[in-house]
Amino acid sequence: MEITFILNSSPITIDVPSNMVLLTLLRDKLSLTGAKPGCEVGSCGACTVIIDGEAQKSCTYAAKRLNGRSVTTIEGVAVANGRANDLQQAFLENGAVQCGYCIPGVIMAGEALLRRNPAPSRLEIRQALSGNLCRCTGYVQIVDAIEATAQQRALQKEGA
Ligand code: FES
Ligand code: FES
Repeated sequence: MEITFILNSSPITIDVPSNMVLLTLLRDKLSLTGAKPGCEVGSCGACTVIIDGEAQKSCTYAAKRLNGRSVTTIEGVAVANGRANDLQQAFLENGAVQCGYCIPGVIMAGEALLRRNPAPSRLEIRQALSGNLCRCTGYVQIVDAIEATAQQRALQKEGA
């Protein structure tokens, strides 16, 4: 079936098989390989993207459901010229990236949280990451990075 949706701020119309999931559409048809295949059953969060403001597991999200919706992937989070955005930079500065496989999904879960709750507590950050598994970092640095970004964005807003 033909669907039209917004992908990283640009409209796109594409034919998708009715049984295709969003992760396959992104990686195999659109060459957007930032969302990672992990468990592919909705448990690990490596494939997380943002759909209409909410973090969603793209491995279990039917591509046909995208019609009329807005999707942001990790490729859409970077700022001009593919440079890391502030949250990605905070991950680097806080040592929150080790093997990196989970990180695109974690960043998307963090971005979705900060967009709906600009000043989350550490508990709220941990709750927002409850669907994202990281075998390397122990989460402390990840929570530090998201918290630091929230504080930095609040300062920038005050100064604007
Ligand atoms: S690959 Fe989608 S949740 Fe694990
Ligand atoms: S950094 Fe390795 S799984 Fe998270």
